[in-house]
Amino acid sequence: MNVRKVAMIGCGFVGSASCFALMQSGLFSEMVLIDANREKAEGEALDISHGLPFASPMQIYAGDYDDIIDAAIIIISAGAGQKPGETRLDLVKKNVGIFQSILPEIAKRNVQGILLVVANPVDILTYVAQKMSGLPENRVFGSGTVLDTARLQYMLGQHLAVDPRNVDAMIIGEHGDSEIAAWSCVRVSGVPLNDFCEMRGHFQHEQAMHEIAENVKNSAYEIIEKKKATYYGIAMSVKRICEAIIRDEKSVLPVSSAMHGEYGLNDVTLSMPAIVGKDGIETLVPMELDEKEQTELQHSSVVLKDVIKQAYQ
Ligand code: LAC
Repeated sequence: MNVRKVAMIGCGFVGSASCFALMQSGLFSEMVLIDANREKAEGEALDISHGLPFASPMQIYAGDYDDIIDAAIIIISAGAGQKPGETRLDLVKKNVGIFQSILPEIAKRNVQGILLVVANPVDILTYVAQKMSGLPENRVFGSGTVLDTARLQYMLGQHLAVDPRNVDAMIIGEHGDSEIAAWSCVRVSGVPLNDFCEMRGHFQHEQAMHEIAENVKNSAYEIIEKKKATYYGIAMSVKRICEAIIRDEKSVLPVSSAMHGEYGLNDVTLSMPAIVGKDGIETLVPMELDEKEQTELQHSSVVLKDVIKQAYQ
């Protein structure tokens, strides 16, 4: 395996923006771009390569499935994106169909790396990838709510006039409409959220948290209404996940992974904090959720299981 090689399957908005972010990260020395439209893959590879004199030398090229075998990370962004007003779950039929053409190409090759699912609905497609890829579950996971969590940190940072990197907060469950802001676990530089809010002159906690959680959940809809697609935030999320893998950082990230009894959940793939390193998911991290959050997490699981039942099994 080439530990500094990444493969991108799908060169649309998300795939190409992610490749652009990964090229600038310095994480990789080789990047192969794969797309059903070969010209598109070639065009994106050329365009991104021309920035290399401003970054670090690496090979970036359009390839095919044989080029993924030795990649340390294989990212699947291929799939239709949401149209204005469409939910991520509305994409399930079309994108499961696309995955059912991609996964056999991966399964028949003895790939050594980690499979990172980014296409939506990411929780459902991660489940499908785990079932069809033939890879161990720790090496197949999704970008999950890493982006939603970044949005929550950003919005809390704005609200509290504090560096978002000091906001320890997480969105869990579905990367979608049933996602949950785990408010009971939020700290700002170790300070309980309400105490920090009051220090900053905010006292309407329930209202503020409701508004922020709604804004996080509806971010993609808002951006899609304005510019037809989202891709920079997810590209940075992909970069962050790849960093944890390539550098074996053992970072705690809310990636979409298979539940096996944790939080009372089984046979469903959704986002809970997990330790991510060179071998993919090492273990889940037990969150102390309050009763309301646990109930909402059960609901998110039911939503996803219903869709999995209709779309895949
Ligand atoms: C978003 C897409 C990646 O949330 O689902 O922007």
